[in-house]
Amino acid sequence: MGNKIRIGALISGGGTNLQAIIDSCESGKIDGEMVFVGTDNPDAKGLGRASKHNIPTFVVDYSSIIRKYGKEPGKIRLPGSFDEEDIRSKLSLFHSGADRQKIKKFIITRAIAEAGLLEKMKFYPVDLLVLAGFMRNLTPYFIDRINTDPDNPRIMNIHPALLPAFPGTDGYGDTFRYGAKIGGCTVHFIDYGEDSGPIIGQKAFPIEPDDTIDSIKKKGLALEWELYPECIRLFAQKRLKTVRMTYARDDGKEVKRTVVKIVHSE
Ligand code: GAR
Repeated sequence: MGNKIRIGALISGGGTNLQAIIDSCESGKIDGEMVFVGTDNPDAKGLGRASKHNIPTFVVDYSSIIRKYGKEPGKIRLPGSFDEEDIRSKLSLFHSGADRQKIKKFIITRAIAEAGLLEKMKFYPVDLLVLAGFMRNLTPYFIDRINTDPDNPRIMNIHPALLPAFPGTDGYGDTFRYGAKIGGCTVHFIDYGEDSGPIIGQKAFPIEPDDTIDSIKKKGLALEWELYPECIRLFAQKRLKTVRMTYARDDGKEVKRTVVKIVHSE
């Protein structure tokens, strides 16, 4: 050992995925160590899980930042080296026709919150940042400051659906309401879009006629607790390589996509 990777986590809620990752680090399944747990939500139950394992925690209260901006937008202090146009040009969370003012508010409030996260995180350098039920979209302001090497992304997310189907905040609910016959979960590296980054791993389960949203969530979460540690383990083993692919489609169009290849151990 001695080469444990340093992992940081961001959460918003109960933190059962966080728990699975901490347990896998402690059991040696992942050659890694959880060095901080941050949250946007002061009431996140997962904070208690971190404290039980003596892992430092911090809160950046997104809601209060957004409220403050709503009341007095002129008084807000922007973070240093903040470039609204650069973020706007990279961000792909909004439709082309989306309201400019709405996007401006999003970019400014999130960059302030993200500067707060970065400020706290600088005390705990990490090799990998895992989003474990973190219910906020990160902007290019934050992403570019973590992913400093374009060939080595290091922010992972777990999503409760088989991406690219059902991105967004309610993956299992959307899977159920669509009438899908298979549900699942996905671990991916994040990019500038919503749940659109290169896929690392997926697990699937059948949806039976008597399933409900609750039973689907139960099945899905149980798979998440296996999948996330497995993907982090591959990262720790340096077995995840991102490759830029160009494909020719049958209709003659070219598709460019960054994909993850899982390679054998070095
Ligand atoms: C999990 O189902 C996770 O996939 C989902 O939130 C839940 C968190 O549970 N994440 C997202 O929807 C991200 N957009 P947990 O706090 O018990 O790990």
